[in-house]
Amino acid sequence: MKILIAGELNPDLILRNYQTFPQPGKEVLVEDLLLTLGSSSAICAVGLARLGDRVTFAANVGADTYGDYCLGLLEREGIDVSHVNRRADLKTGITVSITSSKDRALVTYPGAISSLCADDLPKGIFAGFRHFHVSAYFLQDALRPGLKQLFAEARRLGLSTSLDTGYDPSEQWSAELIDTLREVDVFMPNESEIQGITSRQDVMDGLRALDNGHTLVVGKLGSEGCLSLHEGTLIEVEAFPVQVVDTTGAGDSFDAGFLHAWLRGNPLRDCMRFGAACGALSTRGLGGTATQPNEEEAEAYVHAQAGH
Ligand SMILES: Nc1ncnc2c1ncn2[C@@H]1O[C@H](COP(=O)(O)OP(=O)(O)OP(=O)(O)O)[C@@H](O)[C@H]1O
Ligand SMILES: [Mg+2]
Repeated sequence: MKILIAGELNPDLILRNYQTFPQPGKEVLVEDLLLTLGSSSAICAVGLARLGDRVTFAANVGADTYGDYCLGLLEREGIDVSHVNRRADLKTGITVSITSSKDRALVTYPGAISSLCADDLPKGIFAGFRHFHVSAYFLQDALRPGLKQLFAEARRLGLSTSLDTGYDPSEQWSAELIDTLREVDVFMPNESEIQGITSRQDVMDGLRALDNGHTLVVGKLGSEGCLSLHEGTLIEVEAFPVQVVDTTGAGDSFDAGFLHAWLRGNPLRDCMRFGAACGALSTRGLGGTATQPNEEEAEAYVHAQAGH
């Protein structure tokens, strides 16, 4: 199953367990540090590769140490990075996450993240692929305007398409998205994204507002599970019980699991359960990719939880 993902590529630097949150002019110590793969698109790509799919990643990174680091990690997972452009004029972005058990503060330098545009994808790139996925719509300022056309082109060539917008830091929730969704086969927002995009507080109202007669919308509700309104029928799947260490990337791991099952023609509820299993399993370790499962592990987990 060949899947193309276009998106952002950057590391996360996690500074873990501060005693007091840093104030201007002062220094604090943290207990632990972890440099790990960040970015929604890349975490989803690794999730799919772990499940056994053949993934090609398209992105811009800087010609710098963090770019080398991210590329090395993707290659180690067997992901084709021949469409990752090394750009000497850009710096690879980074998110610094300063955490405690109660809260976290994120500081992001976007750098190359927002630079990818439709023209960076070579003509004919879709040939040979079965599916095209994009994450972090609201961070990708240069890709957003051309994305509907890209999805349309992919679908014209027989690929299916999916989108996970992620949160909009500007909270503008651009109206362009609703139009772009016409060319999206699977849309996987979380609860606050559904609320932001549709201006509806009630998730069911939000799902109804997103119904365009084509796009399959799967809403992710964290520890409350996930739900979908499909041809007028509500399908709800509970989250699996898990010892959570860090929920970073649970949504992207869910996306990977859902798409893996959906691309194989499984019934919607089974796809949601498989996605929920991949999301839950990913929370057992720090960072987005450390504990993403392979196919066998995810299937065993779903079976072990059957009847719970
Ligand atoms: N605490 C949890 N316990 C069990 N399962 C979880 C938990 N958090 C997330 N999951 C599973 O992962 C899925 C996706 O997580 P979530 O709803 O947090 O997505 P998201 O908000 O897009 O995440 P992200 O922060 O990665 O963007 C959930 O539907 C659920 O099945
Ligand atoms: Mg998300």
